[in-house]
Amino acid sequence: MILVAGSANLDFVVRAPHIPAPGETVLGQAFTTYPGGKGANQAVACARAGGAATQMLLAVGQDSFAEPLLASLYSANVKLNTVLTQDQPTGCAFICVADNAENAITVAPGANLTLAPEHLPDLTGFSHLLMQLETPLATVTAYALAARAQGVTVVLNAAPAQPLPPELLAAVDVLIVNEGELAAVVPYPVSLMTNLAQIAVPCVVVTLGQRGCAARLGNTFFIQPAYPVNAVDTTGAGDTFCGVLVAALDQGESLTQAMQRASAAAALACTEAGAQSSIPTADAVSAFLAQQPAPCEASVSALCNYCGMG
Ligand code: RIB
Repeated sequence: MILVAGSANLDFVVRAPHIPAPGETVLGQAFTTYPGGKGANQAVACARAGGAATQMLLAVGQDSFAEPLLASLYSANVKLNTVLTQDQPTGCAFICVADNAENAITVAPGANLTLAPEHLPDLTGFSHLLMQLETPLATVTAYALAARAQGVTVVLNAAPAQPLPPELLAAVDVLIVNEGELAAVVPYPVSLMTNLAQIAVPCVVVTLGQRGCAARLGNTFFIQPAYPVNAVDTTGAGDTFCGVLVAALDQGESLTQAMQRASAAAALACTEAGAQSSIPTADAVSAFLAQQPAPCEASVSALCNYCGMG
């Protein structure tokens, strides 16, 4: 069983020709709301990946924004462990999605900040704990230490980017970051491979957007080129990657197999609008992978060079 402990946000999304620069006003299209939040997106991705049962620990306010978030998790088959907060509103995210599919996100965390060490449920029966950084760092650290003490594999998606205390890193088994988040975690950023090697965590995975992803497990490095798709909205693609990676590892797949499935799921998530609304099912990922040619030598060697493995 997988426990995802983290944030849930209602995403307020406007599509615009480009993301506004500081001081700029851009005329966008109609706005839409979607269930989001890094934690909830990752829980939905885990559950849609099939395999292990997924449970989520989250905090929401007593307001109308909470309802669509809980409904989306419930309909994805995520078992809920909900903290109802009296004095904070449900978390919200304000997202601009540009016509090139990139996004800019501002989060008002609200109730997510009330998730506290005492809310952690009994971890008996859980194999993996998956967390992110939209809840208090002290809570994330307390949960990681408790999980480590009980032999539960701790997976941390260190997003949004921030430096991590050494006691947290010491309790993490798998760290998942993008390039910006990686730079915030390493003391002396150099080349990608060197950065991965500097982190005192047994397994580190770095997502590289359209290039793909790379990982270090012990002293061995792996790469996975991205699957090209016509992207319309990249929101939640990283969360899809995290959730599907953990679900695959939980099923006993190797790191390279898990990276392949997670990359395929993340690519598919970019082809539809919204965060949770775009997360594919296990069947959709399998069908997509069955149609993909083996990665060409040029893309593999370009990725190796980018990572400093050339
Ligand atoms: O990673 C995407 C998510 O970041 C959005 O759903 C938004 O809620 C923010 O948490």
